Amino acid sequence: MFKTSFVTLALVAYAAAQSTAPQWGQCGGIGWTGATACPSGWACQQLNPYYSQCLQGAAPPPPPATTVAPPATTVAPPATTVAPPTTSAPSGGSPAAGACGAIASTVPNYNNAKLPDPFTFANGSTVKTKNDWTCRRAEISALIQNYEAGTLPPKPPVVTASFSKSGTTGTLAITAGLSTSQTIKFSPTITFPSGNPPANGWPLIIAYEGGSIPIPAGVAKLTYSNSDMAQQNSASSRGQGLFYQLYGSTHSASAMTAWVWGVSRIIDALEMTPAAQINTQRIGVTGCSRDGKGALMAGAFEERIALTIPQESGSGGDACWRLSKYELDNGNQVQDAVEIVGENVWFSTNFNNYVQKLPTLPEDHHLLAAMVAPRPMISFENTDYLWLSPMSSFGCMSAAHTVWEGLGISDLHGFAQVGGHAHCAWPSSLTPQLNAFINRFLLDQSATTSVFTTNNQFGKVQWQASNWITWTTPTLT
Ligand SMILES: *[C@@H]1O[C@H](CO)[C@@H](O)[C@H](O)[C@H]1NC(C)=O
Repeated sequence: MFKTSFVTLALVAYAAAQSTAPQWGQCGGIGWTGATACPSGWACQQLNPYYSQCLQGAAPPPPPATTVAPPATTVAPPATTVAPPTTSAPSGGSPAAGACGAIASTVPNYNNAKLPDPFTFANGSTVKTKNDWTCRRAEISALIQNYEAGTLPPKPPVVTASFSKSGTTGTLAITAGLSTSQTIKFSPTITFPSGNPPANGWPLIIAYEGGSIPIPAGVAKLTYSNSDMAQQNSASSRGQGLFYQLYGSTHSASAMTAWVWGVSRIIDALEMTPAAQINTQRIGVTGCSRDGKGALMAGAFEERIALTIPQESGSGGDACWRLSKYELDNGNQVQDAVEIVGENVWFSTNFNNYVQKLPTLPEDHHLLAAMVAPRPMISFENTDYLWLSPMSSFGCMSAAHTVWEGLGISDLHGFAQVGGHAHCAWPSSLTPQLNAFINRFLLDQSATTSVFTTNNQFGKVQWQASNWITWTTPTLT
């Protein structure tokens, strides 16, 4: 009897262990047969059709997408004439009006299965100088908005802010509007270090949905509820959220550009609020997974971001569309462009026209990341999840790296890719590399930031630079 009871108890314990996934553990996704429940205080949230994860807090999970949307069968013709998108009010590094000549926002008849050359303008001219890069960056901004991200509106006429603080928690109440009678309000919270701020104020990291990197001492953190700005529950979320209450539900901005717009308004608000004691010259941005895609967009488009830190952003982030498709075609079940436009509203409806014919896209995400240059960025990736398309991230960032190399500042662009940890759980082995970038670029300390590493765990594919990178890196003068 004793023995039988023991076995029964052991079986019950075993079943319980099997039915509850651990903290940060996988709890669902295509092909998943393991536990689907999460520990108390943790909720199973779908990150994409391949992966649901136990995350802290009881936020309701988005409606489960049980099937991957089929590829669109009819592809609309490419837009041929589109007014050049207006970008956010530039600061530092943007070309003076007229300094660049006409900026192309379309490249008719573009056809290139390899990665587009960062050092050749749409009109065929070569990028030779650092000033040329400023103009090429403006061109890339227009191309990315037009082809995949939607329009990023400039600073609206009304932006006001007030600040309150209790203990080490501050609240920045922001009003933004097209007129005083047509406004939206949002109030991100800031967690401050204790003690007195440096003379120029605290450095700050804007963390999409709170982020998942360890914030070092001496740096404040702002929690940005980007999903309130533009919802990202599913492919049915388009046009929902604060941004669209202001600009209208049919505005062409995708969730990505709507989120960037919100980051820019946060920085506007901090600039006009000295009481917050934030050093607006030392603002970083981070986010993980879908919010890592968003953090990269913010760093690319908002030049007041001093350090960009996307974490496990994968396809739609620091991976390239073309490389992710190559991974998919060769047996890695990755999240590619076709899947992404069916899954959520991160990119514009116009991008649907290109996901089936990526060679016609005159940009890719090595160019999105290169828009951060000459400012610094480091991205982190996780090879334990093939849907993050690990070869694509490494190859894409290797291609982007040539821009920082051409500018003579290769140590301002970092990349680190390891496995052995759950998606968005921070691997402590990478803390020194993260802190090196934060110390140097937000805390004004000296640090060595030459970080470019991978474990080469790319599933069924390998990275072959010569198959994708057709340019030689110039020395920009
Ligand atoms: C090509 O476009 C760039 C960016 O607008 C411009 O600076 C350059 O002068 C153009 N080159 C020619 C030959 O038109």
